[in-house]
Amino acid sequence: MQDLNKLWKIFNEKFTDTDLAKGAFSAPGRVNLIGEHTDYNEGFVLPMAIEKEIIMLGQLRSDRLVQVFDLGYKAETKFSLDNLSPSKKDTWTNYLMGVMDEIQKAGYLLQGANLIFISNIPKGAGLSSSAALEVVTALTMVKLNLLEIKPVEMAHLCRRAENNFVGVACGIMDQYVSCLGQKNYALLIDCRSNDYELIPFKDHNYQVVICNSKIQRGLIDSEYNKRREECKIATEFFKHKLNREIRTLRDISIDEYKKYQRQLPEVIARRARHVISENYRVRSGVQVLRMGNYSAFGQLMIESHQSLKDDYEVSCAELDLLVGLALKQEGVLGARMTGAGFGGCTVNLLRREYIDVFEKTIKQGYKKITGIIPDIYITPPAEGAK
Ligand code: GLA
Repeated sequence: MQDLNKLWKIFNEKFTDTDLAKGAFSAPGRVNLIGEHTDYNEGFVLPMAIEKEIIMLGQLRSDRLVQVFDLGYKAETKFSLDNLSPSKKDTWTNYLMGVMDEIQKAGYLLQGANLIFISNIPKGAGLSSSAALEVVTALTMVKLNLLEIKPVEMAHLCRRAENNFVGVACGIMDQYVSCLGQKNYALLIDCRSNDYELIPFKDHNYQVVICNSKIQRGLIDSEYNKRREECKIATEFFKHKLNREIRTLRDISIDEYKKYQRQLPEVIARRARHVISENYRVRSGVQVLRMGNYSAFGQLMIESHQSLKDDYEVSCAELDLLVGLALKQEGVLGARMTGAGFGGCTVNLLRREYIDVFEKTIKQGYKKITGIIPDIYITPPAEGAK
């Protein structure tokens, strides 16, 4: 990442000093260790923030204008806080406008600002560059305007921006971990109560390694919404069968599922099985991590991938290939697709001494079959927005 002095130099070349509050802020991307497609079912997730981030520099203005410069894409935009509506053309601006809109809707008063930002989170790779842009924008505006908004509230506000303004019906996981991640910890989030717990994820013998398939997540929006619908159908079914309050698939036990699975349409049964079993895997995963049993955690990652591939059907040939190659390697405890799916990245848990061989073999093996050299990122759990 670029150093701050250089960024301030660019900022000063771009904008005249307004003499008002200024500052530099950052928000990380994330990788989900386990708990996929469970957040919108009010279930459990266990992501961690990664050492890839968006840095934003900003200074308040005395009017209601916001001017933004995206250093990476050399794109700029200007809008008024009095006139925020989604842009069809410059879709990247919707993440910023959406966040400011939600801050204002929550009753806070904003002043305009000059902003520049730069990112090293690969886009469209399932590492939550969108959530990071929302969170860094929120933090910048909140701090410069001296607003009292806590990280949890900020995460919700950013999610609403993505739901309402960007038009993606995502769950809470990405924004939450970008706001609240901590160095050396994974974040267990209960997506119903919104409680969270920091789970130590640090042992110098093991390392998380992310492989980027470089397949852009094509189908994602329509398939994502379809999965949400299928989960709702399954929930409605159980509501009628069980004599108690059922809000989501979170409320169904594995035994209940087994008892009724045959009465469900086949596809819906598989979707439900994924979500119900994945919630169990997250909770077991947390237990084994607390005992320092990384091998058992790796095994749960492997099961999670199988379930995402066969039952939830959100993987793709390239992700399966990366996981298959990884699991053939010595020193690999677990591997799975991470994020929404249909492309993007896999997350792998490795014994540290095997990292170099792993990197070389995966690159060769993946290139041989796909012609693409995957990117590989090695990252410990990083700090959230700051
Ligand atoms: C995307 C969404 C998250 C979550 C994952 C799947 O990353 O933004 O809210 O639903 O997909 O686990």
